[in-house]
Amino acid sequence: MNANNINVNGDEFEPFILEEQIRGRVKELANQINKDYAGKVPIFIGVLNGSFVFLSDLIREITVDCEVDFFKLSSYGDAKISSGQVTLVKDLNAEVKGRHIVIVEDIVDTGLSVEYTRTLMSKEQPASLKFASLLRKTGVAKIDFPIDYVGFEIPPEFVIGYGLDYAQKVRNLKSIYRIVPKHGLKK
Ligand code: IMP
Repeated sequence: MNANNINVNGDEFEPFILEEQIRGRVKELANQINKDYAGKVPIFIGVLNGSFVFLSDLIREITVDCEVDFFKLSSYGDAKISSGQVTLVKDLNAEVKGRHIVIVEDIVDTGLSVEYTRTLMSKEQPASLKFASLLRKTGVAKIDFPIDYVGFEIPPEFVIGYGLDYAQKVRNLKSIYRIVPKHGLKK
């Protein structure tokens, strides 16, 4: 095994997007958001659990007045493939009506989560609704609205770290790692 690789739950992962790259890209996204929301007071809404690391770094590069809230959707559970079902596990506290909302996601994979979120939020009649995601798996999600701020487009592989878990672990890794395919994907 390569010295930089790590073993999680019997699967091997290799470094993919390093801490410094993430930091640089998060700053770029924040700069864009600062321009787009000049004079406004957006609410950044993190989708738990995966987005909390990205959101906490992003928010510290934001210079416009803003608020932060969270809600929680059901996750993958302990598997590496989407269950295909999304449910609301913990609701928001913020009043969304008439506000500028930026939903903050860790990753857009099948797109089910952002689609569910869009339906949920649209009912609350925000003044505007945009999406930021640190990662997007290319070619997987079939959604008919844009993800307005994307950190990195990645191939459809299983990734961990920087908030992203594998069976609830390894969210604390500073860089993002991807699975080494030769070990096979456990379903
Ligand atoms: P969706 O398939 O786009 O609905 O993604 C839902 C959620 O699944 C994301 O917000 C992540 O928390 C999780 N997820 C998707 N792909 C990965 C991955 O490669 N590693 C870890 N979690 C993932």
